Amino acid sequence: MAGTRILVGVTGGIAAYKTAELVRLLKKAGHSVQVVMTRGAEAFVTPLTFQALSGQPVRTSLLDPEAEAGMGHIELAKWAQRIIVAPASADFMARLAAGMADDLLATVCSAAEVPIALVPAMNQAMWGNHRTQRVVQLLQADPQVRLWGPEEGQQACGDNGPGRMLEPEQIMQALAQEQAQIDNSAGGVLAGKRLVITAGPTREPIDPVRYISNHSSGKMGYAIAIAAHAAGAEVVLVSGPVNLSPPAGINLRSVMTAEQMLETTMAAVDEGCDLFIATAAVADYRPQDYASDKLKKSAAEMTLALVRNPDTLAIVAARADAPFTVGFAAETNDVARHAISKMGKKGLDMIVANDVSVPGLGFNSDNNAVSVFTATDQFHFGPCAKQQIAHELVALIAPRLNARVGDSQNQKGSHQKPQNNADRKPS
Ligand code: CTP
Repeated sequence: MAGTRILVGVTGGIAAYKTAELVRLLKKAGHSVQVVMTRGAEAFVTPLTFQALSGQPVRTSLLDPEAEAGMGHIELAKWAQRIIVAPASADFMARLAAGMADDLLATVCSAAEVPIALVPAMNQAMWGNHRTQRVVQLLQADPQVRLWGPEEGQQACGDNGPGRMLEPEQIMQALAQEQAQIDNSAGGVLAGKRLVITAGPTREPIDPVRYISNHSSGKMGYAIAIAAHAAGAEVVLVSGPVNLSPPAGINLRSVMTAEQMLETTMAAVDEGCDLFIATAAVADYRPQDYASDKLKKSAAEMTLALVRNPDTLAIVAARADAPFTVGFAAETNDVARHAISKMGKKGLDMIVANDVSVPGLGFNSDNNAVSVFTATDQFHFGPCAKQQIAHELVALIAPRLNARVGDSQNQKGSHQKPQNNADRKPS
């Protein structure tokens, strides 16, 4: 869900200092953040703090002639894709439940048609008060509003009990969980998209009993294929030889050599492809000649002539109707520099780099740690299970793929399946 426009409302409460960390985490996760503070909030944290963290001017007043000429309350309400009010004071919750629009934040909440998450923070006696609980019941019955928290525990005033605001990390988790539910009910973040993905090693035969290959297990590629399928994509998995079971619901096409991988991938891309991910560890060279009989040893030394294999990823990325392309870069040194250079040379939208010199990660392991680069951004995931990395990557790719499809539809048509052969350029 990276890239969501989130309006963060801050109301009066000592927990407002934690909201600064929340804004930092939201920005770090790739969201656009606009902060609106109530007058009470300004008594605890200055707007300048939130301005510095969000990179946007902070709005504090409903009747601000300067702001109304720019982003007024209606524009703010239309801009926001979701609203998080943290901390949500008893007073703000009561005003919202009553449908009041007596300050900027309450007005924006009245005008917005997006989910509003309230993260309550107040003294335990205030939370338990029967009038507050009546308000809570009203808000719980409001389909636009969700309450995240409060937690029980030690309070700033010294009391112990329910009323503590959730920690910023817990708010991020609640946001991710809710987004996953929305995505699933909408059919998944990749619903309607076709993914072609390569995985595993290739095997380049020398003679009937010998070959050149590498240690790739295919686990990362299979995990991404499974995560993308779970997110609604139709998946074609072009796989080199691996010891993994064919994943359910995925169109598996097995290959052996780099040339077969290219041929099979191009056929799959021709059938229609929105997203191409190359996780395969393709042998860069193959023996120039294949000996149809087993080679016999004779001389003390032997030289094997090798020729370059075609680069499937570069060829797909160079197509006139290229899908959104994601490459992988296994490096042992200068990881970021090599990865960014590969992304540029091959003309990719994104590259996922991992340091294969780290013991216990990457090749043949169940875990990985990766750095992801786009033309403008950089992200890090792990160390964690490859399945977790796969889900993070799908979540990162989906909004960028959708933004690119939207852009290209506006400009020159989509990257969808070509309508006829005339739409296709030879690669
Ligand atoms: N790739 C491909 N076809 C090839 C070679 C690589 O599709 N013949 C893809 C891989 O699946 C991966 C990316 O390209 O997504 C890796 O690029 P590459 O430059 O081959 O990486 P290295 O093999 O690490 O390159 P080098 O040996 O030059 O570091």
